Order: sequence, then structure tokens, then C-alpha cells
Amino acid sequence: MDRIIGDNRREKMKILVTGGCGYIGSHTIVELLNKAYEVIVVDNLYNSKEDVLEKIYKITNKQVKFYKIDLCYKEKLEQVFLENKIDSVIHFAGLKAVGESIEKPLEYYSNNLISTLNLLELMEKYKVNKLIFSSSAVVYGEKESPYSESMNRGLTTNPYGTTKSMIERILEDLYISNSNWNIVVLRYFNPVGAHESGLLGEIPNGIPNNLMPYVMQVASGKLEYLSIFGNDYPTQDGTGVRDFIHVVDLAKGHVKALDYMNSNNGINVFNLGTGKGYSVLELVNTFEKVNNVKIPYKITDRRPGDLAEVYADVAKANIELGWKAEKNLEDMCRDAWNFEKNR
Ligand code: NAD
Ligand code: UFG
Repeated sequence: MDRIIGDNRREKMKILVTGGCGYIGSHTIVELLNKAYEVIVVDNLYNSKEDVLEKIYKITNKQVKFYKIDLCYKEKLEQVFLENKIDSVIHFAGLKAVGESIEKPLEYYSNNLISTLNLLELMEKYKVNKLIFSSSAVVYGEKESPYSESMNRGLTTNPYGTTKSMIERILEDLYISNSNWNIVVLRYFNPVGAHESGLLGEIPNGIPNNLMPYVMQVASGKLEYLSIFGNDYPTQDGTGVRDFIHVVDLAKGHVKALDYMNSNNGINVFNLGTGKGYSVLELVNTFEKVNNVKIPYKITDRRPGDLAEVYADVAKANIELGWKAEKNLEDMCRDAWNFEKNR
């Protein structure tokens, strides 16, 4: 993607991607490079490794510029703004484990809020006004599916979710203070799967909390069995229902959001999901079928705080962003396992 810099000369648009070595960021960088954007990555590698950038190079044959910087250190982050003419920022950096956030609330508030405030202050200073922020369906609180952007934010039940809600509020206030800001808030539902090359995917730290990473560790024999948290929910088979979305579809949503910001202003919120809910048992059965592996499981008590059914209304993203998830549950299970086997 180019911008005209005078005398009809063109220059590639530069996108600053915070948290770009992580799971969703790395997949998004591939899509950005495929669309000929130039990418600058800032990551402190707290939950990722630098070798992800080599994998991105293998897939795209394109390099990115990398800064190993913690966003909580504003002077270091300022260097990135001084050295690069940035057009837009995609802000993925943050801590994301729900359970850990309950145990270490101060770490979560401090990291997620200070990093974001530093970033926003520098964007104001250097007049970079386009921002895409990674939010989550968690900000809706408990509502009835499908979750729509027209619903208010609800009560969050953990510090992680609260940081997302607080940041959304900060962004709204910022826009009120200065309407030059152009902000897209993307609320992800349940990202799963991996890049089809098998080179990029999610590498959980320790024993996973989320369903798909846990299923994969059971499939590979690292864990004995999956605990399915409750089969007495008011759903078709009693297990929880979620809107699982392939991470590559999700990544493409960010590129669409960048296009959208070129012709729309303001602060705009979009759900990124498939619009369809699948149950935990459906995911497990599909994983077994497409990968020809067994996933032993036991039904246990419900996990505190879990909702029965969460899926998105995706009409707004379909119509206004011109984006639609294309991959199905089989693709998600196949690609996830392909990545796990390769690593
Ligand atoms: P991830 O942990 O794989 O990636 C986040 C990256 O940010 C990591 O590489 C980490 O090292 C980096 N980081 C964290 N704090 C930083 C700091 N202070 N300075 C610099 N880098 C820092 O997570 P992900 O799954 O790719 O998620 C990306 C974003 O999407 C996060 O903000 C997350 O909260 C949000 N989100 C994720 C999910 C999900 O299920 N994966 C769902 C909804 C929202
Ligand atoms: N589940 C199990 N066993 C497990 C793990 C999960 O049965 O070992 C079930 C859960 O009870 C739930 C479903 O699988 O019904 C999905 O659980 P995840 O932990 O994978 O995902 P959540 O929907 O709880 O949370 C995810 C992200 C959050 C994000 C939220 C909303 O992890 O970061 O979606 O976007 F906030």
C-alpha cells in the first residue's frame, strides 16, 4: 500500500505493529506484507520469540524492522517515532491471560494501561492519528448472543477484561478531545488455528487455559486428558458455545480496517467473529475427525465466570468493513494441529 509524497512519488505506508511477535500480531504482519505495507514491530518478547520474524520472512520473503522495546518505557518508545514516519498503528501488545490477571491484577493494569497511555501520548505528539486497537468480546459482559456493537459494554469479571474496557473508554475520551483521531476498535471473539504454512501459531506459556491449545497438548500426549468445564449449560449438547475464528481471517480483518480508515473518520467498533457458535464438544469431535487423533476428555464442574453461549453479530463488519470470515471449524482444527506437529 503506497501513499503519494509529492511530485507523484509513492512511498509504502508504514504500519507500527505493537506486540507483533505474538500470536495474532504475527499473522497480521503476514497479511500486511502481502498487501505491500511496510511494517515496524515493537515487542518486548515477554510472551513471544524473535524467531517469529524469520518465519514471517520465510512466508512473505519480506523483512520488517524490529525494536525490542517495552511500551511501558516511553523514552525508548519515542525513539521509534523519531526514527520512522509512521502512518498508522495496530496495537496488539498486552497481557492476555484471564486467570493470571485475577492473581496479578496490578501487573495487568500496569502493563496494559501504561503501555497504551505511552503509545497514545506519543501518537498525539508525533501527529500519528490512526489506531487499530485489539479489544475483546469480554467487554460486553454477560449478554444474550448474538453480541452486537449496538450493545453497551457490560460488567467485566476479571482485571484483563477490565483493562480492555478501560482502554476503550480512554479511546472514546481521546476522540472527544480531538476529532482528528481515527480509531477502530476490533472486538475479537475466540481466535484459534494457525498459519497454513505451519510456521506461525500460538505457543502457550505453561499449561494452557484456553480450549484449543489445551486440546493440542492432549493430542500430542503432553497432557493426559481434556477437562470439559460443564455439560449442563442450556446449549445443544450442554457444553459451552463460542464463536471460534481462524486467526488468518482475523488478521485479514485488520487489513480491511486499515482500508476503512482511509475513507472513514471517528471512533468505530467492530466485532470480528464468524457469527456462528460451536460447542466445546463440536470442536473436540471436529479436531478428532480432521486430524485422526483421539482427545480423551472428562466432564468436570463449570469454570467460574464462563458464559453458556457467546457468538458475534458480524453484520457491521461484513457491510462496513467488507470483511467476512472464510475459514471453517475444520480449517481451524487442521491448521492448529499442523502447526503443533511442526514445532
Ligand atoms: P500474544 O501474547 O501472543 O501477543 C501479545 C504480544 O505483546 C506478545 O508478543 C508480548 O510479548 C507483547 N507485549 C506484551 N506487553 C508488552 C509491552 N509492555 N511492551 C511490548 N510488548 C508487549 O497475544 P495475542 O493472542 O496475539 O493477542 C494480541 C492482542 O489481542 C492482545 O491485546 C490480546 O489481549 C487481544 N485479544 C486476544 C484474544 C485471544 O484469544 N488471543 C482475544 C481477544 C483479544
Ligand atoms: N474450556 C473447557 N476446557 C478447557 C478450556 C476451555 O471446557 O480446558 C471451555 C470453556 O469452558 C469455554 C470454551 O471452552 O466454554 C472456550 O474457553 P476458552 O478459555 O478457550 O475461551 P473463553 O471464551 O473463555 O475466553 C476467550 C479468551 C479471552 C477473551 C474471551 C472473549 O481466552 O481472552 O474469549 O473474547 F476475553
